[in-house]
Amino acid sequence: MSNAEEMKKLAGEKAAEYVEDGMIVGLGTGSTVYYTIIKLGELVQSGELNIIGIPTSIATEKLATEQGIMLGTLEDYPEIDLTIDGADEVDHNLNLIKGMGGALLREKVVAMVSKREIIIADGSKEVKMLGTKSALPVEILPFALAAVKPKLEELCIEAILRERDGKTFVSDNGNYILDCKFDAIAEPEELESRLNNIPGVVENGLFLDLANLAILGTTDGLKILK
Ligand code: 5RP
Repeated sequence: MSNAEEMKKLAGEKAAEYVEDGMIVGLGTGSTVYYTIIKLGELVQSGELNIIGIPTSIATEKLATEQGIMLGTLEDYPEIDLTIDGADEVDHNLNLIKGMGGALLREKVVAMVSKREIIIADGSKEVKMLGTKSALPVEILPFALAAVKPKLEELCIEAILRERDGKTFVSDNGNYILDCKFDAIAEPEELESRLNNIPGVVENGLFLDLANLAILGTTDGLKILK
């Protein structure tokens, strides 16, 4: 296992310790949450833990089902006790960029209704200012691509239509994603409201004031940001 992978595993497994019996648990998406889901699956299968998971993507739904975790929907469980999710950037105020895995829309809905949101990542995701390492994913209505792209490029350096395997990437919700490059995002709240005011923008990857705790796996062990 590579160093980066070990750090993800460290953070992912640590987060599972915050899950208590009987909880409704939001299950994020990505390669770090993978380790949390595997750990939770082990605890469920050994009978130590009884939880209902609310998945944030089709990939997470599949993985959690394979691990024997019982799943529910927001219709059945409109309030979530704890969500564990990854991030592409984490700043010192626990503001985040998310969505490089393409699941930002469902992840943000789940974060909104979660009493507690724990973010897990390897230490390379920690930043002083958002937008300095990762692009900002913006999910848009496919119909609106030609109209929205130039509007986004008034706000960022470049908005690049995400592709996968040579084809336009389509989210679980049937939408496209434009990855917006910035030097840095100095005023994330202002940017978020400007993005939300563009017709055709479905959601953006700024997660502001949604996380309560970040667990980072580093070469020196775990680093906790509160
Ligand atoms: C998916 C996300 C992921 O949480 C984020 O991309 C981090 O993923 P990983 O743990 O694989 O680095 O926001 O939409």
